[in-house]
Amino acid sequence: MEKIAYVNGSFVPHSEAKVSVFDRGFLFADGIYEVAAVLEGKLIDNASHLARLKRSVGEIQLALPETLERIEEIQKELVKRNDLVNGMVYLEVTRGADKGRDFAFPKADVKPTLVMFTSEKDIINAPSAKTGINVITVPDIRWERRDIKSVALLAQVLAKQAAAAAGAGEAWMIEDGKVTEGGSSSSFIVTQDDVIVTRQNGNEILPGCTRKAVVKLAAERQLRIEERAFTVEEALAAKEAFITSASVFVQGVVAIDGKTVGNGKVGPITDRLREIYVEFARATAV
Ligand code: PDD
Repeated sequence: MEKIAYVNGSFVPHSEAKVSVFDRGFLFADGIYEVAAVLEGKLIDNASHLARLKRSVGEIQLALPETLERIEEIQKELVKRNDLVNGMVYLEVTRGADKGRDFAFPKADVKPTLVMFTSEKDIINAPSAKTGINVITVPDIRWERRDIKSVALLAQVLAKQAAAAAGAGEAWMIEDGKVTEGGSSSSFIVTQDDVIVTRQNGNEILPGCTRKAVVKLAAERQLRIEERAFTVEEALAAKEAFITSASVFVQGVVAIDGKTVGNGKVGPITDRLREIYVEFARATAV
């Protein structure tokens, strides 16, 4: 059976899920997106994703065409219509389709576009959770408002393609000698004295929902956390490294640019944080 997408008020088969060539998401990347995980048919940490959606659209003066409550209803309906057990719901809102290609915002009668679709992924049993992944480093060539979850992802497309070509699972982006974040994930290291380090939120990185939950869960368990930037050299001298995102949860990193991190295996703190996060995810799923 063909999968179902949501497009501006209708649930339609993927082959009929279409938007205009004049859509500003297509022409200008003038849009915002979110990705929420689904475990056993339920949305994970969705309140956090919807709060970030609201913030992102506010930062670009884009009005959501539906309330957050309604958006969650649509996400749930889509999960149901696709019989989705484990995977993700992708959501995108753009400034809509005007008549032509004017850079400035369209007049008030142009309605924002809202689309959603689902994809399947067994995040819990992904083999890389056990083996860990390699990452490569690339210069961070993105704009200065990375805190906005914009659909302008060309820099990340190129970074992640370079990673894929090198047989790596993620690219860590570097600015002024420090790691900003992964192409589609937050970056962490665990120092030799067991301090978990991740870059502080600001305009330089996306405030990851998984990052936020992991930092909170770790602090509640008296694990030591420092929110500050770190260098690749520090990461290579660390005991452990890992990434977080809605699409991997907590995922060990075992090598950077071909050089081993720690003992080259997923570390015990990474494993523990993954367990703690999955427990939190299950307990708070909606
Ligand atoms: N990416 N940093 C960047 C640049 C990201 O694109 C993402 C998420 C994250 C992690 O955020 P969260 O924990 O809220 O998923 C950090 C999604 C999964 C994506 O683009 O597919």
